[in-house]
Amino acid sequence: MTRIDTSVDVMLRVNGSARRLRLDTRVTLLDALRDELDLTGTKKGCDQGACGACTVLLDGKRVLSCLTLTAQCDGRDVTTIEGLAPDGRLHPVQEAFIRHDGFQCGYCTTGQIVSAVALLQEGRAGSDEEIREFMSGNLCR
Ligand code: FES
Repeated sequence: MTRIDTSVDVMLRVNGSARRLRLDTRVTLLDALRDELDLTGTKKGCDQGACGACTVLLDGKRVLSCLTLTAQCDGRDVTTIEGLAPDGRLHPVQEAFIRHDGFQCGYCTTGQIVSAVALLQEGRAGSDEEIREFMSGNLCR
């Protein structure tokens, strides 16, 4: 039986750095970040698009990395939780999570923080109701 090579070359800009990968076309962005680039801050919760634990920014917009193929991201900017504190200085949202004891088990926290950063950038933090609506894709048990 002949095996067909389904790999593809992909260039991503991850947290400001160019990263070249050769991957199977079916590899999700979540798995590429965690398994190929060792960026394990992005969590795998449901792996089905239901929990938000895997939220990252793609060209500044929130995406569920478990539902995003890496091959779709060629030439694009990816920001993970690690990219929010590039020089070790925490992002104000990260500081707020610590200051207000926003952690429970912590598993959803990185997705919550990345999503909250995007929410602020999107200008969707005008009211508690608006924040609830636009954070509703990020679940905490
Ligand atoms: S791991 Fe992606 S939405 Fe749950």
